[in-house]
Amino acid sequence: MENFIAYNPTSLHFGKGILADLVPAIRQYGKRILVVYGQGSVKRSGLYEKITHSLQSAGMEVFEYGGIRSNPIIEDVESAAAIGRDNGVDMVLAIGGGSVIDSAKVIALTIPVSHPAWDFFVGKATPQSGLPIITVLTLAATGTEMNPFSVVSNQKARMKAAVSSPLAFPKHSFLDPELTMTVPRDYTAFGIADLMAHCMEAWFGAGNCPMSDKLILSIIKEAMEAGPPLLNDLQSYELRARIMYAATLALNGITIQGKVSGDWGVHAAGHILSLLYDVPHGASLTIVYPAWMRLFKSQIGSRIADLGSAMFNESLTADQAIGRIEGFFLSLDCPVKLRDMNLRNPSMADMVEAMETSKVNGMNMKFKEGDYLKLVELFY
Ligand code: NZQ
Ligand code: ZN
Repeated sequence: MENFIAYNPTSLHFGKGILADLVPAIRQYGKRILVVYGQGSVKRSGLYEKITHSLQSAGMEVFEYGGIRSNPIIEDVESAAAIGRDNGVDMVLAIGGGSVIDSAKVIALTIPVSHPAWDFFVGKATPQSGLPIITVLTLAATGTEMNPFSVVSNQKARMKAAVSSPLAFPKHSFLDPELTMTVPRDYTAFGIADLMAHCMEAWFGAGNCPMSDKLILSIIKEAMEAGPPLLNDLQSYELRARIMYAATLALNGITIQGKVSGDWGVHAAGHILSLLYDVPHGASLTIVYPAWMRLFKSQIGSRIADLGSAMFNESLTADQAIGRIEGFFLSLDCPVKLRDMNLRNPSMADMVEAMETSKVNGMNMKFKEGDYLKLVELFY
């Protein structure tokens, strides 16, 4: 087991009606709030109106930036940061899914600086200060509500990249499972797949910590137990709550403690599919994971077999485990091949080139010469 420092400063407010705590919690950070949201789901549900009304009733001043898209782009981050800067806001409040929250994190880091936001993603600048970030999560998937990561695309640079900073932890995140009831079936499934993939990245990471392995398997099993019935009963509070809690735990740091790192090669490759073809994040992972395990099974066959055996409660070989995991993703109606996505002319050459530009790699399992093409061939 490795040495580690456990650090997570986010206050997580979880449960039905928990938004009642929003105004009291954020009052301490000031009165001028930049509210960031996506393409309209929070307007349609009435959530935006409800929150901004309660903020204004409490004497707070609301500025807004809407339109953040799924697989968010750096241009929106820059435009929103300019609005925040020009209006001297005290904090950023994100209302939405992972794309909105990830954008809000970088907006909060960019408002105090004069250089481009993208500098944080390519190592040209390190965040030194940031406005407080508050989130109201509406989609269970990424874990961004309780972690220091943000992932944003830059089409000009042809990269979808991540930044991590302790300053990007939200101060408070509000998770009311009822707010996820309007998430459509497909994105609900992508969220379940994403949280499982976060656990798998930890499982295939470097270092050995039996406690982490046990936590990882518990979270995966919770997703496998609550996920399929949820897809048949999207209005179930209990199932929504179970998946929402599992998604937070899957990427709030606890699965990596005592290990050297997760792997993250599958995520890095999945980001290429999102960058080039706007594939939803969770769907990119259900395509890449089976291919990645097939690519690396000669090196980590026993680890794959152990994972599959634990997930399905029977003794499986690596090949059987990959088949069963792929089958589980299919049972969620997630794609496992590019052809399942109806993409317009996916190109192997473009995918390999974009992987080269982004230097796609895992932290544990390293791609060697020729592996990008082998991986991409396995998407077909
Ligand atoms: O834009 P709106 O109109 O809000 O619609 C969204 C979007 O179309 C919709 N939605 C969200 N909440 C809803 C809802 N629709 C109805 N009812 C609700 N309550 O769902 C769609 C997808 O939203 P999005 O935020 O894109 O999904 P998700 O939460 O899966 O976030 C994906 C992004 O997070 C990044 C991904 O790469 C991707 O860009 N990730 C962030 C991570 C992190 N910060 O730790 C880790 C992850 O591995 C991931 O990379
Ligand atoms: Zn993910």
